[in-house]
Amino acid sequence: MVRATLEKRPADVARMFDAVADRYDAMNAVMTFGQERRWRKVVTRHVAPTAGMRVLDLAAGTGASSAPFAAAGALTVACDFSTGMLAKGRAKHDDFTFVAGDALALPFADAAFDVVTASFGLRNVADLATALRELARVTVPGGKLVVLETATPPARPLRAVNNFYSGRVMPRLARVFSSDPSSYTYLAESAAAWLDQAALANALRAAGWEQVSWQDLMFGAVAIHCAVRPTG
Ligand SMILES: C[S@@+](CC[C@H](N)C(=O)[O-])C[C@H]1O[C@@H](n2cnc3c(N)ncnc32)[C@H](O)[C@@H]1O
Repeated sequence: MVRATLEKRPADVARMFDAVADRYDAMNAVMTFGQERRWRKVVTRHVAPTAGMRVLDLAAGTGASSAPFAAAGALTVACDFSTGMLAKGRAKHDDFTFVAGDALALPFADAAFDVVTASFGLRNVADLATALRELARVTVPGGKLVVLETATPPARPLRAVNNFYSGRVMPRLARVFSSDPSSYTYLAESAAAWLDQAALANALRAAGWEQVSWQDLMFGAVAIHCAVRPTG
């Protein structure tokens, strides 16, 4: 069993995702009761992919989060540092490119992309500020960032339900369905320790992004943050 900790050491996180890669997409559908498809549609609306648009999907895993952009004709690059997730993604998708790379030192030139996005990836990086600055570096001035992540429901009773689900229900579902249940303990812990919506917005501004906004989904259990790289 491979289990990362909240230290989020890159080698541990990558190995953990290698270990769950085979059943990752199916697990996602189970864990989110199929909601993940709806969330990806909202992300796609924000990304607004068009033919020829250069889109980076960071922490793309098996490419489930990248596929809608490629389907719309965008030149899509799916970047991840788990070789297991990348292998699974390459076997599944041939209409976009998978690139091995670390969020903390992206293997791309400055301003290489029109839009950068990350779904359920940023909360796994050891140094969020560096990752957000790297994303800004590879985005064209005036280009957009779209982040889908777990979040904190603003209403206290819903927060309790959410904590119960991710702390108690999710690990039990993982014991039944996952190839590496201990990973889902980490995923629950990392969700509990993750920034709330306002704090992530502040982290984005501190990393140089502007026009920061967010949209809650499922009563704020997840949220989509959008921001723009300044032109000046
Ligand atoms: C929960 S999965 C999300 C995959 C995909 N975006 C999705 O929505 O299904 C998180 C992914 O982030 C990747 N990841 C975590 N930290 C990373 C880093 N520092 N650099 C690149 N990828 C990273 C993991 O390898 C994993 O594939």
